[in-house]
Amino acid sequence: MSGSKSFYVTTPIYYVNDKPHIGHAYTSLACDVMARFKRLDGFDVKFLTGTDEHGQKVENSANAKGIAPQEFTDRVSQNFRDLAGFMNFTNDDFIRTTEERHKKSCQALWKKLLDNGDIYLGAYKGWYAVRDEAFYAEDETEKKPDGSRIAIASGAEVEWMEEPSYFFKLSAWGDKLLAFYEANPDFILPKSRKNEVISFVKGGLQDLSVSRTTFKWGIPVPGDDEHIMYVWLDALTNYITACGFPDTEQADYKKFWAADVHMVGKDILRFHAVYWPAFLMAAELELPKRVFAHGWWTNEGQKISKSTGNVIDPIELVNKYGLDQVRFFLMREVPFGNDGDFSRSALMGRMNSELANDLGNLCQRVLSMVNKNCGAIIPNPGAYSTEDDTMLASAYGLVADVRESIDVQSFHDALEKVWLVIRAANAYVDHQAPWKLKKEDPARMETVLYVLCETIRHIALVLQPFMPTSMDKMLDLLNVSQEMRQFEFAGAEHKLVTGTSLPAPEGVFPRFIDHDELDKSFEGKGYEGAFVITSCLRQNPKTKETIFEIELSTGESEELNSLDLEKALKKGVLTRVEA
Ligand code: MSP
Repeated sequence: MSGSKSFYVTTPIYYVNDKPHIGHAYTSLACDVMARFKRLDGFDVKFLTGTDEHGQKVENSANAKGIAPQEFTDRVSQNFRDLAGFMNFTNDDFIRTTEERHKKSCQALWKKLLDNGDIYLGAYKGWYAVRDEAFYAEDETEKKPDGSRIAIASGAEVEWMEEPSYFFKLSAWGDKLLAFYEANPDFILPKSRKNEVISFVKGGLQDLSVSRTTFKWGIPVPGDDEHIMYVWLDALTNYITACGFPDTEQADYKKFWAADVHMVGKDILRFHAVYWPAFLMAAELELPKRVFAHGWWTNEGQKISKSTGNVIDPIELVNKYGLDQVRFFLMREVPFGNDGDFSRSALMGRMNSELANDLGNLCQRVLSMVNKNCGAIIPNPGAYSTEDDTMLASAYGLVADVRESIDVQSFHDALEKVWLVIRAANAYVDHQAPWKLKKEDPARMETVLYVLCETIRHIALVLQPFMPTSMDKMLDLLNVSQEMRQFEFAGAEHKLVTGTSLPAPEGVFPRFIDHDELDKSFEGKGYEGAFVITSCLRQNPKTKETIFEIELSTGESEELNSLDLEKALKKGVLTRVEA
């Protein structure tokens, strides 16, 4: 839908030296959730992603494969494009820095900086890390026992470089940057990261080397072909290239620049919150409204790295657990902005406790009752009780509540707000017990089920950006038309119409049973046979799974989580007997 309000969100453009992994999927997913939310909220959205294809690192990777850099980047860039499709990302553009439009844009920006007196020719002498494509001051590096030297912040090896270079007068922009941060307190989020940036700038900024002469894979400096542009100046410019720069009169530029959110990982915040705004100020262009730096994932407690071989492949994950399930988990598990640990048991825990038990079950039991007891049509509500009003008020408040969290990139809070309503709705079902009302007071049963259908409608509406396919299915089950899935149709004015016929209910989130794990955890452990649950011990705080104590036919006791128990039951390894 098109409106007068616009929203422009960007992912970093990804290096093509490697195949996409969970970190890339995570950054883009956060942007996709925002883009989808804003579209549903009536904004004209531009969501940009793409690939960062120049620089020494990419040249080295292409050489290592024995192919030309262009051929190499064509191949790897396609993997990122495919991942976006696979993850159901709704980017409106996919930019490659090897495109002509980008070369034109970078060279125009360069000329502007040069004309404004912010670029001069000198010579660079210092440390450079190819892996980070970043320069480091001596005190930002340390020597290792084997004689090599690394950047302390990233651990990347640095090498000494001496070459002629153009410099950008970054040192002249420190005070202006500090004044800008002060005047725009939400420019850098989260707050903790903002403080790191401010102290870096307060420490004094050095002029920045912005061209290289020792390799060729990049955009030539206009008027001096010996030099190619520093890959970060090249890469950052993508955000305005995609709006049509240097044609600042173009509709897209006028409509979408300055970006509302540049989403980045914490490792690349300095480039986005210091260098990029300085380049833009120097070029007299508008500054983006926000840079949000999210945290990093570890894998089952370990730092993710190619050398340890524990890189998480988003495709493998989605194939095993389901797309919406993975999207949900990544946005739900960790307060957005913090680092987080990825674990399969936590993923399965959330799938089973929050998706299958809380949300799936709510939908399934309500819609089955409507199907069986109300002739498969939206029921007819009578007068509302206080409990009904409370339930409906929390459902009707969801869009506004969730919007507040999305606007500060607090995705985990957004989901927590929805889950509060889901839990309240489950408690409401238990308390109202519509299955009992069927005989005692059928009119009241209809009211209760109507309130629940309205509640589910709102839950599904606000969850669309997170789990688009499943929520489409849920809204189909309520026979909500496509047009009425925009947020303007939330609230009582557009409530479900009594008498609307509904399709046969279907489960949206089945419980997940990991058969491979089941085999591993039970093989040879002597669990075979009947058992009795003797007590329900506690909940695992991380996975939210209940731990049961069971007594086996051998007379021994064992503790088992509900997931393993269920798996064992399904496979017939254990059989329950009445106590
Ligand atoms: N090419 C630069 C960005 C240029 S933007 C003008 C770059 N590319 S990258 O491919 O290395 O990284 C892209 C994003 O992936 C970063 O936001 C980074 O933080 C993110 N992640 C890489 N590994 C990650 C995790 N283990 N966890 C979460 N995100 C991580 O930097």
